[in-house]
Amino acid sequence: MSVKEVLKMGNPTLLERSIDVNEFDTPELSELIQDMKDTMAHLNGAGLAAPQIGELKRVVIFGFDSNTRYPEASVVPFTVLINPTIQSLDPTMEEGFEGCLSVPGLSGSVPRYANIRYQGFDPSGAVIDRVATGFHARVVQHECDHLDGILYPARIKDFNTFGFID
Ligand code: NI
Repeated sequence: MSVKEVLKMGNPTLLERSIDVNEFDTPELSELIQDMKDTMAHLNGAGLAAPQIGELKRVVIFGFDSNTRYPEASVVPFTVLINPTIQSLDPTMEEGFEGCLSVPGLSGSVPRYANIRYQGFDPSGAVIDRVATGFHARVVQHECDHLDGILYPARIKDFNTFGFID
């Protein structure tokens, strides 16, 4: 319905913990999700979390067929994920470059679990339960971190990898 302003790092809202969605299939939830889709598409993002547009609700969206920001990444199915939980399936961590619409112009290498299971709900309240690896697993971990007030620079171990893209 509309493209929203994306909050940028430094805005204290991005550091807050978001709250669970209690009611599915409501006009308010549909409007939030549509705004998130419009905003993500406008900025050509790979994912977006509700707190990035100022809504402290546990809703993330992600997915693309191809993305110019991450030309190497394989297809990630477009997903709306509500009240997500993540488990690592083994201790393997992988380094990979990330960016964030709330941290424009910058990129850095972030260690993430390589193999995860994630669960949650779609907008109608149906269960989502998936296993993911590689970039798919990375995107889910990045977006879900937003719901706990964590931006990717806080996860960087090697700050020599952090800098401006251009
Ligand atoms: Ni982000």
